[in-house]
Amino acid sequence: MAAFGTVFMPEMALATFENNQWSEASFVSSNSIQMHPGAHVLHYSSTCFEGLKAFKHEDGSINIFRMDENVKRMAQSSKLLNLPAIDTELLSSMIIDVVKKYQDEVPAPPGSMYIRPTHFGTDAAIGKAAAPSANSMLYVLLSPVGDYFSGGAKPLRLLLANDGMRCAPHMGMIKSGGNYASALGPILKARADVNADQILFCPDGDVQETGAANFVLIDGNEIITKALDSTFLHGITRASLLQIAADMGMTVSERELSVDELLERSAKPGTEAALSGTAAVLTPVGTLIKDNQEFSVGTGEAGPTTMKLRKALNEIQWGQAADTHGWLTKI
Ligand SMILES: Cc1ncc(COP(=O)(O)O)c(C=O)c1O
Repeated sequence: MAAFGTVFMPEMALATFENNQWSEASFVSSNSIQMHPGAHVLHYSSTCFEGLKAFKHEDGSINIFRMDENVKRMAQSSKLLNLPAIDTELLSSMIIDVVKKYQDEVPAPPGSMYIRPTHFGTDAAIGKAAAPSANSMLYVLLSPVGDYFSGGAKPLRLLLANDGMRCAPHMGMIKSGGNYASALGPILKARADVNADQILFCPDGDVQETGAANFVLIDGNEIITKALDSTFLHGITRASLLQIAADMGMTVSERELSVDELLERSAKPGTEAALSGTAAVLTPVGTLIKDNQEFSVGTGEAGPTTMKLRKALNEIQWGQAADTHGWLTKI
């Protein structure tokens, strides 16, 4: 099967912000966009994006998971990057319209239609290193995806990195391309050095997140994850799983988690760890690596609570359980 995110629908929804206003949205080919080589984004990384999914239910309906939250986060990222303000109604209708256009192409569960809104500065101006782009482009690209996890996947190996960070601390809550560029070098090095799947960034011993997912620790009836601040991405899957955990009667602890506490708790046989994100859903972590030493999390295998939470989230997304929090937008 094609790699995740490499197959695209032929057309996408596109709008531009020019002369202080948003254009109407239109469908254009997904093959190309036109942009000046001096475009602000290509030099000063004025860009942000989102990732969300549409699911096909058994009754044939198409349902987008937590669209409003992703639209809100994109508006926030755009604001923090000093890009033109997102028109949230325009973006929501672009998402709905393009998904509708390709509703017959939405794969059945465990597949889905991955939706990638993208917003970037287009001013042709290579002297604007310290000035915002007044004009921008916004598009919504679609990519049908299969099951990223596919059941038999081995629990992940994470390198705990006390030194360095994923990105500049004030950028962490912005879903911006530069943050991924910033984390790439360390991740490739961790793969080469210790065969890690990901780095768990822990600046000054504070357990934060990986390059593209949030981290949760599960100890008995308690789920522990870092409290929201500006340094890391406020995952919508994270928020959803914490709500599901609370609904199941678990204790949700959003607080600082130190590397020392993480390793101490991981040594207990019943402890579980996992990564949460739109692509990962909730993917088990089996091994933590620190200073060339390897530590199993609990048994080192996918834990029952991780799989229970993952299943509960999937069942809501797939229309197999009641959507009690109103997370789905039926189109
Ligand atoms: C850095 C980072 N953290 C966390 C997440 C999880 O966010 P969400 O659950 O909204 O997909 C992502 C994206 O998937 C991410 O790129």
